[in-house]
Amino acid sequence: MSVFCFSLKDIDLAEVGDFGIHVKMLAAPINPSDINMIQGTYPILPDLPAVGGNEGVGQVVKTGRSVTSLKTGDLVIPADAGLGTWRTEAVFAEETLLKMPPDIPLVCAATLSVNPCTAYRMLSDFEILKPGDSVIQNAANSGVGQAVIQIAAAKGIKTINVVRDRPNVLELMHRLKSLGADHVITEDMLRKLETKDLFKKIPKPVLALNGVGGKSATELLRHLQHKGTMVTYGGMSKQPVTVPVSALIFKDVKLCGFWMTQWKRDHSWNKEKVKDMITDLCNLIRMGQLTSPACQEVPLADYQAALEASMKPYVSAKQILLM
Ligand SMILES: NC(=O)c1ccc[n+]([C@@H]2O[C@H](COP(=O)([O-])OP(=O)(O)OC[C@H]3O[C@@H](n4cnc5c(N)ncnc54)[C@H](OP(=O)(O)O)[C@@H]3O)[C@@H](O)[C@H]2O)c1
Repeated sequence: MSVFCFSLKDIDLAEVGDFGIHVKMLAAPINPSDINMIQGTYPILPDLPAVGGNEGVGQVVKTGRSVTSLKTGDLVIPADAGLGTWRTEAVFAEETLLKMPPDIPLVCAATLSVNPCTAYRMLSDFEILKPGDSVIQNAANSGVGQAVIQIAAAKGIKTINVVRDRPNVLELMHRLKSLGADHVITEDMLRKLETKDLFKKIPKPVLALNGVGGKSATELLRHLQHKGTMVTYGGMSKQPVTVPVSALIFKDVKLCGFWMTQWKRDHSWNKEKVKDMITDLCNLIRMGQLTSPACQEVPLADYQAALEASMKPYVSAKQILLM
């Protein structure tokens, strides 16, 4: 199915009843997984017709009599994927929403539940990273990549950030460095021998974060420390990860995958752990150490243009639908 099967439609609003929460949506990004869901290539496929969008922020308009955790005026984000956030309003169940503090900027709140949470978990759950350790990542200009740079910088962890070459690559390098990136290099530079000099200045990375796959992932592995871990969280090149046998035998690298949705489902019983992650991320936002990704704000009515823009390469800006 093409993404152009989309259209704006009036749909009936459910009754709030005892347990429902009427939410006015304010802003929602277009992420690659939203596109994959529409294309039918994502592990979560809603029954059709469906409302698109897995992430966003809304404001509570009214709550059912038995709702205890939220009140009118609260800002809310989805607790899980599949909520359908590209809409102006809806009635949601209480357990599908998480409360956001009111002082978090709108676009930060709209883009918090997927990419920064993914970056946070990948930097916390796979290797014990100390200040001074280094992490290498590809797609460093992606929403996940920008969050990795900032969260790592806040922890004193060095980042080596790989991006695809483009005409304005120096501008992009400068932008990522202003977020706290220690090194930004292109995929071509990573393949060259001179890159070895880089690792005379900083330790070889103990963790590699792969959002691309294909040759890009193989290159990350080449620079990984002995017994280091590569976490694959995305496959933007649509190419499989090829692992040299030597990396497994002589370097004993560990290869893992990560899916934020699964993590949230696995931890749905542990609301405190989810709350702690959101609190830590909100604190970084308040301290100016975590900002929203570079983005372009687009009125919902212009969703077609926004969907098209979200699929273009070398854009380095996330499309945010404003309701
Ligand atoms: N596993 C999880 O839980 C999880 C959570 C969040 C995101 N993700 C995945 O992570 C990836 C990034 O998501 P995002 O929201 O951060 O993305 P985004 O902000 O939309 O950025 C897309 C990134 O992909 C790169 N890219 C696009 N096409 C590419 C290609 N053919 N080869 C190499 N790089 C390419 C872009 O680089 P250019 O600027 O060079 O085009 C850009 O860095 C997606 O695959 C997404 O599904 C996974």
